[in-house]
Amino acid sequence: VTTTEIKVRSPEFDFTDVEVVWGPNAEAVIGLDAGSPIITPIEIFLVKVMRMAKAQLDPVADAELIRDIDLFNRQEVRHYKTHAAFNKAIREWCPAVVPLETAYSDEMDAFVAEKPLRWLLGYCEGFEAIGGLVAPDWVDGWNQELAGSFSSTVAQMFRWHLAEEYEHRTVVYRLYHRLFGEPADEAHEFRVEMFGVSTSHFFGFIDQVRQAMLERYREGMTPEELAASEAREAEVAEVQRVHFEQRVQPVFAPSYDPAGNPAPENLEEVLSAYPLEAR
Ligand SMILES: [Fe+2]
Ligand SMILES: [Fe+2]
Repeated sequence: VTTTEIKVRSPEFDFTDVEVVWGPNAEAVIGLDAGSPIITPIEIFLVKVMRMAKAQLDPVADAELIRDIDLFNRQEVRHYKTHAAFNKAIREWCPAVVPLETAYSDEMDAFVAEKPLRWLLGYCEGFEAIGGLVAPDWVDGWNQELAGSFSSTVAQMFRWHLAEEYEHRTVVYRLYHRLFGEPADEAHEFRVEMFGVSTSHFFGFIDQVRQAMLERYREGMTPEELAASEAREAEVAEVQRVHFEQRVQPVFAPSYDPAGNPAPENLEEVLSAYPLEAR
């Protein structure tokens, strides 16, 4: 049961002339940006899987879940379109990301064609679990602090996106349990297994994008500049690793339910800043 109603907002983000490296901690910024080209195909995949799963539901008994799936899909469509607009700027700056985007997108299409629905929903839930748990990092500014800037359109876009990820965090979890929740111990084990499968898969691609972008950023550096950049990269990676492991701990508990995730402090402020989509 959802506690708040999911709303679909229509922010306008203008990425014309946006700086891809939008904060002084370039290695951190590039790591954050690198999610974007992969997020677009993941969220296209989410919407496809949700439509397939929705067809298995009972229009009367599952009416509330179906309503939330529709709202979820409308939010995700807006998310991936918005990221796609920013991805153009990334591609222009670093054409080497293009084959990585294509390879990831092709793999996701193959999954939709070949994998059983339980597996597909497990992959989706791995991604959604992370969104629901790391939302405070954008909404309350931990990532912006690390990047060294709060003002970029890119940071604002991620902040809106993660606020909505928090808002719709229970939908895939509820759908997975509605269709594949019995027996409970097996549902838990498979959910945790798929968390590992999905995070290794998409973070593997995000890391390849990050490496390509770092290479682009480091073009023309002196050996001293390169050494300094590599040292900052290692420092950022360690800070993020420790923080992330702590954030995602709840996922591994049999009692995990994203409904109980702590809300970001600035959630209402961020969500209320954007007009609702007209329908
Ligand atoms: Fe999203
Ligand atoms: Fe989502």
